[in-house]
Amino acid sequence: MTLDGERDELPEVGAAPLIIDADFVEVEEDRGLPSLDAVEEISTARARRPLELPRGPATPDGRARVVTVINQKGGVGKTTSVINIAAQMALRGHKVLVIDADSQGNCATGLGVDKSRVRTTTRDLMLNPECAVDSRHATAVENVHIIVGDRTLVGLEQEMLRQLGRERRLTEALAPLLPHYDLVLIDTPPSLGLVTINALVASDGIVIPVQTEYFALEGLAMLAGTIREVRGLLNPRLGVDGVMLTMHAPTLLNQQVAAEVKEAFPELIVEPPVRRNIRLAEAPSHGIPIHLHDPKSNGGQDYQKVASVLEARWGLL
Ligand SMILES: Nc1ncnc2c1ncn2[C@@H]1O[C@H](COP(=O)(O)OP(=O)(O)OP(=O)(O)O)[C@@H](O)[C@H]1O
Ligand SMILES: [Mg+2]
Repeated sequence: MTLDGERDELPEVGAAPLIIDADFVEVEEDRGLPSLDAVEEISTARARRPLELPRGPATPDGRARVVTVINQKGGVGKTTSVINIAAQMALRGHKVLVIDADSQGNCATGLGVDKSRVRTTTRDLMLNPECAVDSRHATAVENVHIIVGDRTLVGLEQEMLRQLGRERRLTEALAPLLPHYDLVLIDTPPSLGLVTINALVASDGIVIPVQTEYFALEGLAMLAGTIREVRGLLNPRLGVDGVMLTMHAPTLLNQQVAAEVKEAFPELIVEPPVRRNIRLAEAPSHGIPIHLHDPKSNGGQDYQKVASVLEARWGLL
């Protein structure tokens, strides 16, 4: 109200949503100097790494290492990494099984498998673990087999809610297959739902692809929380095998984020970063990994080097 009783321009309370402008609440409060203890607490909180987790343990003799490729952020290169790391490992003589736990089903396309002709998928295996042996398919790459994910995975979580031991279905399904492979690589959807938890429970280690863009580290803190919960409740041996940088470009932002990630995980980082490379994006449309499409491309060379680092960490050399 103005002094002469006329209404000013402000809308009535209730007519407009209550929006508090940050400027209006920015009141400096003099709380005096913080105590030395408080200063120490703040600085250790800052120094604490968002993903303080142990490396994965060695693989028990006579069975495959099970590795989940995970990041709940979408489009960071999980599937591209699964396809190309699997292919690189097979090229080195290792027997690899890819399990696509994502309803987008991109692993099948990228490895040259026609999804429309597949009868048994990851969904079936989650509901009936005993069908795992018959769910495997050959791919365009010798020594890489796949269990295909497809859109029937949508809604699976609801169906599984009533099942006992629902977090261990994939572990059960994999048991008879492990002696026949050197590596099982699981591709996950961009979410931390029950299917992803199944993958973590079944795994020895995880690989986290990180796109060198803003918000990268924030996403990792959330993932770290999930991993800690799975370790605490369901799979104490789960560890991190590697944090890899993807879609890396020589921009200032990319370089800064890459430096931050390296600083946060000095012992987990997998070098070199995989550069942004159109040949990597093209390869799936031909149903082949990069080493068959254009091995000399930047992407081809980078995945080859990344695979060498992981091969050593997985004890596959
Ligand atoms: N290094 C790269 N350079 C250029 N393009 C890339 C690179 N890596 C992946 N891509 C492309 O980026 C897109 C997203 O990659 P990808 O599907 O591997 O991510 P994702 O994490 O599996 O995604 P989602 O979370 O949806 O499953 C794809 O089109 C892929 O071909
Ligand atoms: Mg994917």
